[in-house]
Amino acid sequence: MQAPVQIFQKSCYGLSELEGNSIDCMLTDPPYGISFQNHYWDKDLPDKAIWTDSLRVLKPGAFAAVFSSVRLMHRLMVDLEDSGFLIKDVLFWAFLNGMPKSREVALDIDKELGVESEVIGHYKYVQGYKKGGADQYYAADKKVKRKPASELGKKYAGAGLGIKPSYEPIILIQKPIDKGLSVAQSMIQYGVGALNLEQTRLPYEEGEGKVGHNPHPAGRVMANMIRVAPHHDGYDKYFLIPKVRQHAEAFNDHPTKKPVELMQQLVKLLSWERQTILDPFMGSGSTGLACSALGRLFVGYEKEPHYFQIAQKRLGVLED
Ligand SMILES: C[S@@+](CC[C@H](N)C(=O)[O-])C[C@H]1O[C@@H](n2cnc3c(N)ncnc32)[C@H](O)[C@@H]1O
Repeated sequence: MQAPVQIFQKSCYGLSELEGNSIDCMLTDPPYGISFQNHYWDKDLPDKAIWTDSLRVLKPGAFAAVFSSVRLMHRLMVDLEDSGFLIKDVLFWAFLNGMPKSREVALDIDKELGVESEVIGHYKYVQGYKKGGADQYYAADKKVKRKPASELGKKYAGAGLGIKPSYEPIILIQKPIDKGLSVAQSMIQYGVGALNLEQTRLPYEEGEGKVGHNPHPAGRVMANMIRVAPHHDGYDKYFLIPKVRQHAEAFNDHPTKKPVELMQQLVKLLSWERQTILDPFMGSGSTGLACSALGRLFVGYEKEPHYFQIAQKRLGVLED
C-alpha cells in the first residue's frame, strides 16, 4: 500500500521513482523565473523536460494546476502546451496584501542631474511594508525618506516602474484523455478526467440569502477568481485567502510559501479522497499539508536540503 506521504530530497527532473500513468493529479508552485528576492532557484523557469516527465506519470485525463508569475505566464503556458498538456483555464488567486515593488524614478533623475534630493523623514521596513503607512516616519536610524529636489525630478515625482501586485495566475491544464474514450469511460477506467466541483463549493455566510436561480444548499459554486475580499454584488463567488505573512510559522522561512487553505481548495478541485497528488517543486510542503488534511496521498520533490527539512517537519515525517 502506498504511504500517505512520500517525499524525495532531490531534483524532480525525470521523476524516476514514479511509474507512468500512476498519478491522479498535480498541484505545483514552480520557480517563477523572476529571481524573487535574488533566490538563485528562482532565476529561470523550469526546463520544459519536467512537464514532459509530469505528463508521463499522470494518468490520462488527469488535471493539474501550476502557479505562475504574471510576467512569464505566457512562456510557461507555451511550455506546458508544447509538452502535451491541454490548457483548460487560468485561475486568479487575488489578494490585497501583495508587496508594492517600484522605484522612485524621480530620485534617480535628481542623482543623474547631480542634485541632492530633499530628506523628509525616515521609515522602517517590515517585510517590505512601510510600517504605519507611507506618512508615518520612524526614528532617524531607519531608512531615509526623500523627495525630489530638481525641477525635472519634481515634474516626475511619484513616477514608478510597477503596479502593486494583487493576484497570481494558476494555470489549469489536463493530460489528454485516451483516444477513443469518452470522459465517462476515462473516469471509470482511471478515476480522473473531470474536476471535483462539488467539493469546492463555498458555504453561504451566516444569514446570507441563497445565490443564483437554482441555489445549491451546499453553497456557491467556485469561480476561477479566488479572492481575499467579497464584492458584495449578490452573485459573486469568493474565497478569502490572504498571502502568508513571513514568519507565520517560526521555523518556516521559505520565502514563497503558499497558504495551505488555498492549496486545500485546489486539491479539492483536482482530486477525490485517496487519490495521489504530485508536487515536483514542493518547497516547504504546503501542497502536502493540504493533501493530509483532505485524505489525499502526496508525492513531493524538493532539491534544497533546508526547505526539504522544513517540509519533513511540517508533514510530520521528521522527529524533533
Ligand atoms: C516557489 S517554491 C515552492 C514553495 C511552496 N509552494 C511552499 O508553499 O513552500 C519552488 C521550490 O522549488 C524548488 N526547486 C527548484 N528547482 C527544483 C528541482 N529541479 N527539483 C526540485 N525542487 C526544485 C525550490 O528550491 C523551491 O523551494
